[in-house]
Amino acid sequence: MFLKIQFIVIFIYLTLFSKCHSKSLDTLVNTKVGLIRGLKAEDGEYSMFLGIPFGKVEENNPFGPSIPYGHFDGVFDANDDSAICPQTEEFNNTIVGSLDCLHLNIYVPNSAKTNAPLPVLVWIYGGGFQIGFAGRFLYGPKYFVRHDIILVTVNYRVGPYGFMCLNDPKVPGNQGFKDQLLALRWIKDNIGSFGGNSDKVTLFGESAGGISVDYHLFSKQEKLFNNLIIQSGTSFLPSLIGEPEETRTINLAAKLGFETTDLNEALSFLGKQSTSSVILAMRQVPRYLPCVENDFDDVEKFISDYPFNLDIPKAKDVAILIGHTDDERLVLHVNKNPDYYENLNIFYDKLSNAFNFTSIELADMVKYFRHFYIGDENITIKEQFNIIDFDSDFTYVHPTLRSIEKYKENDAGDIFYYVFSYNGDRNFVKKRVNITIGGAAHADEIGYLFDISYMKDEPSHEDQLVIDRMTTLWANFVKYSKPMPEISDLLPVDWKPVEDNLLHYLEIDSELTLKKRPFNKRMAFWDLFYRHNYKLQKGYRSRNN
Ligand SMILES: *[C@@H]1O[C@H](CO)[C@@H](O)[C@H](O)[C@H]1NC(C)=O
Ligand SMILES: *[C@@H]1O[C@H](CO)[C@@H](O)[C@H](O)[C@H]1NC(C)=O
Ligand SMILES: *[C@@H]1O[C@H](CO)[C@@H](O)[C@H](O)[C@H]1NC(C)=O
Ligand SMILES: *[C@@H]1O[C@H](CO)[C@@H](O)[C@H](O)[C@H]1NC(C)=O
Repeated sequence: MFLKIQFIVIFIYLTLFSKCHSKSLDTLVNTKVGLIRGLKAEDGEYSMFLGIPFGKVEENNPFGPSIPYGHFDGVFDANDDSAICPQTEEFNNTIVGSLDCLHLNIYVPNSAKTNAPLPVLVWIYGGGFQIGFAGRFLYGPKYFVRHDIILVTVNYRVGPYGFMCLNDPKVPGNQGFKDQLLALRWIKDNIGSFGGNSDKVTLFGESAGGISVDYHLFSKQEKLFNNLIIQSGTSFLPSLIGEPEETRTINLAAKLGFETTDLNEALSFLGKQSTSSVILAMRQVPRYLPCVENDFDDVEKFISDYPFNLDIPKAKDVAILIGHTDDERLVLHVNKNPDYYENLNIFYDKLSNAFNFTSIELADMVKYFRHFYIGDENITIKEQFNIIDFDSDFTYVHPTLRSIEKYKENDAGDIFYYVFSYNGDRNFVKKRVNITIGGAAHADEIGYLFDISYMKDEPSHEDQLVIDRMTTLWANFVKYSKPMPEISDLLPVDWKPVEDNLLHYLEIDSELTLKKRPFNKRMAFWDLFYRHNYKLQKGYRSRNN
């Protein structure tokens, strides 16, 4: 008898449970742009909607802004995340991609219900604005979707198709950022149909992706996010953005055999070439990067000035989680041959690219930097870690601190600062290049956020702990605007936001430790340097102009 009741209870429970289940999200979703059919994941309790096109590149102007994809005819089968925009991809070093690449992927936990929408986390990949793609080859979602958040990963154009910048309304610049913007608008309009909360969207990105996220904060467009996560790259990276310029495009056409001095002719010629020949020819001209756009009537502008000249009204109350690794430039300068160091004019090159010094001032500054970082030594392998420090400080660490100051000046919400220094078996870049010395390199943390397809071994116990901690912190931030709403066994340290004169940061190593002001002596040197030379930054514009 007792047994029978128990069976009935279990039966009722199962019936209810499966009812609930059927009310949760189906893999056939009705959106504002039509029906989209996804599939159930095999590595976790979630559904995948892969390769949804959100934008179209115009055939007669492939270097120009994209337009919304529009409505699907019939059911769109969202089962292919292989789309990649034209580029030389970094894994097999092959030229790949097509302009039918403005797709996004949505990963929805089975816990999603249409009446209690889940917060949304949107990933923008890095790759120096030249490479990158959103698929599961690198960005497998399984560690994030365990935390009851929806993950979206977004493609955008890179290289000439994403960042050609001309004084011409057809190609005004920053097309790749505008692709991202189209994706964010698509997400705003449609994520509700997937059980997502369109009013609770966090953007995150690493390197060029972090820079992108920061630029969405600076841009004058509508605010399509609540909170931001910015990893190893902000808009304050020096020498990052340029201005409209036609020579590069004219030279690119010339590399493909078309000699002209007329920009429009070059553009129309390039538009008719295969994307792979254009990408191949790019190896012979300088890369295209984000730029300060000129004004044109009826053209949407994304970057209107160098970020250090701008106020950021959109930053008000935005919570920001931001950080970098402890050895950003490791891979670039470690263990090179003697010639490499002998020819490295790094102090001169970096300072002259970013600052408008007279040659006398420049020589002076180079001297101070040499003294500070390497004393009276010559640049050889013996100084490699000092060179790595200099480049890391210049390119990532101090820009991050300047960005934090800027967000504070603009009344941002809580700012949570981290330094990632863990060395395990999933450090994305160090593993690939087989470097074992030094700290964590640029992009190394990606292996602890995403399930990378070629890392086939089960994570070690320690690596899994780092994965669990980081994805929990990141997901908490998405849900609560705080990475640590409460102390737990997994997260035993209270990660405090930065305060005036108390630059708290979380060191993410095999342990989590709350510390203050990383690299304080080096950063104090940079603070003084920037204070003294602020107005000589290239692109600086006085507020009174
Ligand atoms: C590189 O090549 C391997 C082996 O052919 C393939 O499995 C992988 O998907 C390729 N990676 C990319 C990013 O194209
Ligand atoms: C640096 O290089 C110069 C030129 O090769 C050499 O004369 C000098 O002794 C070197 N200095 C040190 C500290 O090794
Ligand atoms: C990686 O580097 C270590 C030590 O430098 C070396 O012993 C090992 O053979 C290398 N592995 C690969 C795959 O190159
Ligand atoms: C560099 O300084 C000169 C002289 O002060 C000024 O005319 C020029 O516009 C500056 N260039 C940039 C890129 O800021």
